[in-house]
Amino acid sequence: MTLQETNFFKEFCNTANNMYQHGWDERNGGNITLLLDKKEIEAVSDVTKVKRSIPMIFDASELAGEYFLVTGSGKYFKNIKEAPEKNIGLIRVQENGKNIDLLWGLEDGAVPTSELPSHFMSHIARLKVDDKHRVVMHCHATHFLAMTFTHDLSERELTRTLWQMCTECLVVFPEGVSVIPWMVPGTNQIGEATAEKMADTRLIVWPFHGVYGTGRDLDETFGLIETAEKAAEVYTFVQAQGGVKQCITDQDLLDLADAFGVTPKAGYLN
Ligand code: 13P
Ligand code: ZN
Repeated sequence: MTLQETNFFKEFCNTANNMYQHGWDERNGGNITLLLDKKEIEAVSDVTKVKRSIPMIFDASELAGEYFLVTGSGKYFKNIKEAPEKNIGLIRVQENGKNIDLLWGLEDGAVPTSELPSHFMSHIARLKVDDKHRVVMHCHATHFLAMTFTHDLSERELTRTLWQMCTECLVVFPEGVSVIPWMVPGTNQIGEATAEKMADTRLIVWPFHGVYGTGRDLDETFGLIETAEKAAEVYTFVQAQGGVKQCITDQDLLDLADAFGVTPKAGYLN
């Protein structure tokens, strides 16, 4: 079996395509990194052949020796499924943590996403609280992004609104959503601020930019962003229709949490 024939490779390309179809990844907007199982990748790829070594602005030695599928910087999500070898790559973090080895893909001199330091910091933070964690996904989910212009940016208020917009939300992200201040993307600073929030949330909003989602697999992470984005879309319609007349109450949300066995973030419900 080749790398391109594996389920995880096909799922990666299909997920990128779905994200594009949803309008979350215009042009090169967004990026995905998937932490791979070493044995699984070594069975389908000659990992002794390094195509290129690429330097990084972040020391990822905590991830030394780990393999990732990554989207390329400046590469269009629209094109990933048709030409994965040009738009995504298989990389491994070198022992020194400061360079990565390119093993497959990113042809014609392409490099991994400019968000790689932020992704790596988020992987490190999530792995500390969940050893099954595998995926970091960033995109420009339209309605969610729009809400950052019009809605209170307090984490509690934003979370409460999303929970109220669709009954499923509380069940999918009981820990709520986190918010960081606006920052320049691609820097270590935005990566650090995001990773700090990753200690207790899987969904971080970057105001006026997009969202960062994490999860144990591509479906789960896509579904997390999809659920929050759907709630934000409903919020947009509700506002356009004249605002809330009636709503799920805090008691309803408590009953829901009880029925589904989830624990809502402390202090978010009255
Ligand atoms: P890359 O093309 O480098 O992945 O950047 C896209 C993006 O969304 C930056 O925030
Ligand atoms: Zn972005």
